[in-house]
Amino acid sequence: PQNVGILAMDVYFPASYVSQEELEEHDGVSKGKYTIGLGQDRLAFCTDLEDVISMSLTVVKSLLEKYEIPADRIGRLEVGSETVIDKSKAIKTSLMQLFEDSGNGDIEGVDSTNACYGGTAALQNCLNWVESSAWDGRYAIVVAADSAVYAEGPARPTGGAGAVAMLIGPDAPIVFERRLSGTHMANAYDFYKPNLASEYPVVDGKLSQTCYLQAVDSCYRRFCLKYEKFAGKPFTLSDASYVICHAPYNKLVQKSFARLVYNDYLRNASFVDEEAGARFQPFAILSPTDSLLNRDLEKVSQEVAKKQYNEKVGPTTMLPKELGNMYCASLYAGLATLVHNKSSSLDGERILMFSYGSGLAASLFSCKFTGGQKLSEIAEKMDIVAKLDSRIAVTPKEFVETMHLMETRYGAKDYTPISSKSTLRPSTFYITQVDALYRRTYERY
Ligand code: ACO
Repeated sequence: PQNVGILAMDVYFPASYVSQEELEEHDGVSKGKYTIGLGQDRLAFCTDLEDVISMSLTVVKSLLEKYEIPADRIGRLEVGSETVIDKSKAIKTSLMQLFEDSGNGDIEGVDSTNACYGGTAALQNCLNWVESSAWDGRYAIVVAADSAVYAEGPARPTGGAGAVAMLIGPDAPIVFERRLSGTHMANAYDFYKPNLASEYPVVDGKLSQTCYLQAVDSCYRRFCLKYEKFAGKPFTLSDASYVICHAPYNKLVQKSFARLVYNDYLRNASFVDEEAGARFQPFAILSPTDSLLNRDLEKVSQEVAKKQYNEKVGPTTMLPKELGNMYCASLYAGLATLVHNKSSSLDGERILMFSYGSGLAASLFSCKFTGGQKLSEIAEKMDIVAKLDSRIAVTPKEFVETMHLMETRYGAKDYTPISSKSTLRPSTFYITQVDALYRRTYERY
């Protein structure tokens, strides 16, 4: 099979959101800390009616329906998520209820987990399958879904929730350049979930920022080496029209892109314009570690990169800024945003995608767009504006109350959700009951 990639996609996010501006006031932090300092606008969250399984059910059902894909045409289904519910039981197994009527139980794949990287691992598995001798001619589906919640404190405004489903197969309008992938994996304790009684992670915020930016450096360096090997010429950012980064919060995306520009300068001063070169020059002597900690360099890089950031990254940031960190879904919500914004002009363009999961696993890879009409169809079917417009604003006080309720729900049995179903959009799956044996049942609203 040729040109394996994304044939169709859909996005789902809960209707309830809290404004970051109101959250600043409620939390008593300085005005602008979350909206400018973190660069976030709103934060989507689940009530006790929804969880990562219901969001996955909603987005997969919607994908199958909107694109009229018969359920027996799916031969592989993989979920990337770090939201742990039944621990040994994959979210994928819960999704099999969508295939019962068709009688199709012949669907390979289970869940992939490593912080925000699981969606990328699931995607790699599906691409590998379609490209392999094991492929039976059917489609694969990748689901990237998470509910990101943090304990009260500085990390809480970097939560979010959402799910993305992608149909994978040959002759796709979004084709992955499989040979061009730079990966960086290492052992770090920057963010992890050792306390199985709590949904909240243990997070070392500062360390996670440094690990993330170090991974940007390593992955980009390796990506460039591969590009040069296969293309016979060096890679620079001018070879990519857009850059999408995993988005814990937008400020880190700004810093990451600035870091890529600095990397181009370090690789060869002629890869950036003269003015940028002159501004980077005083920092050229810094060791890689020192350069990561240098605040002046960070500031200069962001200034130098600003125009390119607006062109290459700006069109990918809306959903991550509107919804917050969706962990595994975050990077792919960036892709959905780009298709939404630019579907008619993406033909032939290359994009870079940077995936980061704490702990840590990271990859920087590329894809190319073909088939403009199909992209417009995807944009239309995702209908992102209607989804955003049908959201419900919730006060910070109600948001905090919901977080308290969710703390009592995590790992609990024998309950019926108490949140109002009026917060659900039509066709959303929701939890009807968790029984005395922790078994979950869902229905469609
Ligand atoms: N107006 C404008 N900017 C402000 C204001 C203000 N009033 N107040 C603060 N800021 C800026 C700060 O200068 C800082 O910007 P800088 O990074 O460019 O210097 C930014 O806002 C954040 O302020 P900090 O004081 O650094 O924030 P704090 O340390 O309280 O928390 C953090 C930020 C560490 C990101 C926290 O939210 C966190 O731990 N989040 C979860 C971890 C995370 O997302 N890590 C990313 C990779 S791993 C992953 O994906 C989970």
